[in-house]
Amino acid sequence: MSKETLTITDNRTGQTYEIPVNNDTIQAIDLRQIKVSEGDFGMMSYDPAYSNTASCKSTITFIDGDKGILLYRGYPIEQLAKRSNYLEVAYLLLYGELPSKSKYDKWVHDITHHTFIHENIKKFMDGFRYDAHPMGMLLGTVGALSTFYPEAKEIFDTRLREIQLHRLIAKLPTIAAFSYRRTVGQPYVYPDNDLSYTGNFLNMMFKMTELKYKPDPVIEKAIDVLFMLHADHEQNCSTSAMRSVGSSLPDPFSATAAAIAALYGPLHGGANEAVLNMLQQIESKDKIPEYIKRAKEGEFRLMGFGHRVYKSYDPRAKIVKQIAHEVFEVTGKNPLLDIALELERIVLEDEYFVKRKLYPNVDFYSGLIYQSMGLPTSMFTVLFAIARTAGWLAQWKEMLQDEERKISRPRQIYVGPEKRDYIPIDERA
Ligand code: SDX
Repeated sequence: MSKETLTITDNRTGQTYEIPVNNDTIQAIDLRQIKVSEGDFGMMSYDPAYSNTASCKSTITFIDGDKGILLYRGYPIEQLAKRSNYLEVAYLLLYGELPSKSKYDKWVHDITHHTFIHENIKKFMDGFRYDAHPMGMLLGTVGALSTFYPEAKEIFDTRLREIQLHRLIAKLPTIAAFSYRRTVGQPYVYPDNDLSYTGNFLNMMFKMTELKYKPDPVIEKAIDVLFMLHADHEQNCSTSAMRSVGSSLPDPFSATAAAIAALYGPLHGGANEAVLNMLQQIESKDKIPEYIKRAKEGEFRLMGFGHRVYKSYDPRAKIVKQIAHEVFEVTGKNPLLDIALELERIVLEDEYFVKRKLYPNVDFYSGLIYQSMGLPTSMFTVLFAIARTAGWLAQWKEMLQDEERKISRPRQIYVGPEKRDYIPIDERA
């Protein structure tokens, strides 16, 4: 039986070291014993974007990037998308099991009865400029929620922590919708507790003078499935931000604001907005070859393609593509769809992209659907944030309960100037 260790020989000293292997991984701290002289700090591993570094152990989401597999607590995303709903998936991510009927009903009741936000928040939101980006408003407002619930700092009080989880999942759609209404200069619409989680979001977004908003069932279902697809994705950039900020033990509103900030970037959650801008810039199918050429020359990124983990088709993108056709039956086909389909066809056949394993990711088609629903591109990442809140909170909770939890504090390789003495300003060159 081979030993579960690595034998490392340091050729600088001729010393050998036995390093234990667990889960096909070594503990980076076990490298510290490797020194040239006794006084050395010891060896570290260097991994600037953590592309080959496990930051935690998790039981929440499993991804196989080569096989295009995504499981939430062991359940395939394809089955959940077909048979579950967003609030049930949020429960699964947070508590590890699909709820019983009674637990599900209580969960829905608890979330539904936290959808209102403090009236002062409207005044706070009215302070944003008329053209403020909804993601900036979401980021600022979620962070500000920590000032309305000082008890949220009691993160190890289970009862208080649960209430904050309910508040965040319930209030993200309300704040998101208020941000949208603010940008279009329409009055805020209050939650309607008779509607589903997604139906209520559409109500707060689009209700006008009618007494009771009635969501289109196809649109309501499509958004709900999109929320499920975006709910969690193991240690992506924004979840890593949630865990890293959360490791200094602030309240969950502050940690979630940090995660929203990370998601805002065009390489991450901002990609769905960037895809639409890119398709609009391409404008017509006959201009695709020119943009492909520019992408190959490294002039710009084909937004919505490529992934740090998926080196095959993102399983979520397949489902989003199916949803697109269902939504377009109701809204009419998005004229940019033909450009998107042709771009995908060319990329999947072109050696440059095939070699780099660049496939459409979850963001490539989702924006087309949102645009067809009448959402402005500035709202696309906001919908991603609503959905990902369940995943961020599940990962945050798991981090808090992790017996190996410590404050995140990476090391560095210092390559700056050696020690030098201060020079008074009149003696400087
Ligand atoms: C999300 O992590 C997650 O799980 C994220 C997410 C989630 O659910 O949380 O899945 C959501 O963020 C999806 C990704 C959305 N982003 C985009 O669509 C933006 C465009 N994609 C890229 O910027 C890029 O693919 C990343 C950021 C997604 C991944 O980048 P990596 O893993 O750091 O890959 P890389 O930058 O090292 O690229 C490898 C090669 C490079 O070429 P070479 O230098 O080797 O010649 O592929 C090229 C890159 O230039 N490349 C692209 C490209 N993506 C990578 N070339 C053209 N267009 C692209 N989109």
